[in-house]
Amino acid sequence: MLTTGCDAVDDLLLGGFPPGIVSELCGVAGSGKTQLALQLLLRAQLPTDQGGLDGRSCYMYTDSLSPLKRLNELAQNYKNDEVSLDKIFLEIATDPMQLLNALKTRLPTLLDRHKVRLVVIDAITAVFRGIAVDSAADAGDRSKIMFEMVNCMRILAAQYDVVFVVINQMTTNMTVGIVPALGLAWSTCVNQRFQLAKVKNPSFRSFKTIFSPYLPSEKSALFEITASKLQ
Ligand code: GTP
Repeated sequence: MLTTGCDAVDDLLLGGFPPGIVSELCGVAGSGKTQLALQLLLRAQLPTDQGGLDGRSCYMYTDSLSPLKRLNELAQNYKNDEVSLDKIFLEIATDPMQLLNALKTRLPTLLDRHKVRLVVIDAITAVFRGIAVDSAADAGDRSKIMFEMVNCMRILAAQYDVVFVVINQMTTNMTVGIVPALGLAWSTCVNQRFQLAKVKNPSFRSFKTIFSPYLPSEKSALFEITASKLQ
C-alpha cells in the first residue's frame, strides 16, 4: 500500500493506494489532483514501514508544464536523502500515440530495470483534448486507442504489481452536469475512481470514493493543502 500522508484519506483507503490495479483520481481544476499525485511520487521512495514503496516512480505528464518546481517544494518536507528527485522518471506525452507508445515501450523498460513501484499519468484527458470527434468513425478510433491505453495500464499494474494512478478531468454534460471526462466506457475500465473536490474552506479538499472493488462508495474524507504539502 502507498500512503498519501493525509491520515483521513489513508483511513478511507484502508491504508493507502493498493498495487496491482488502476486507480483514477478525478476532479475539477484546482481540486488537488496534481498536488496529491506529486506527493505520492515522493512518498513512494519511503521505506515500506513508513508507508512508502521503497522504490522509484514514473510521472507521465501530458501538458508541457514541468513538475520539477512543485516537486522541489514538496521535497523540502522530507529529511536529507529521504527522497530524491532523481528517483522520479519524467515522461512527457502530449498526444494519444505518444502516450500509448510510452506505455507500450518506455514504461515496461522502467518497470523491468529501474525498480519503479508507482506510475502516475497526469492527465489522461489532456491527450484527447483538441482531437476532433466529427463522426462515429472518429469516436470509434478514439475509443479504440483509449481501450488500448487502459488495457496496457491494467496489464502493467498487475504484471509488475505496481501502484498505478491515472488522473482524469471533468467535463460538462448537458443532462447530468459536471461529470468525469471520457465517458462511461472509460469509467468501466479503471478499477476504482476517487473524486477530489473543493470545499468551503479554501485550504481543504474532499476525497470521495466513487467506486471501488473493496471500499464503500460515496464515503469521503477531508485533507488540507498547505503552502508546501498535503496533510
Ligand atoms: P488541474 O490540473 O487544473 O486539473 O487541477 P488539479 O486538481 O490538479 O489541482 P492542483 O493540484 O494543480 O492544485 C491544487 C492546489 O495546489 C491549488 O489550489 C494550489 O493551492 C496548490 N498549487 C498549485 N500549484 C502550486 C504550486 O506551484 N506550488 C504550490 N505550493 N502549490 C500549488
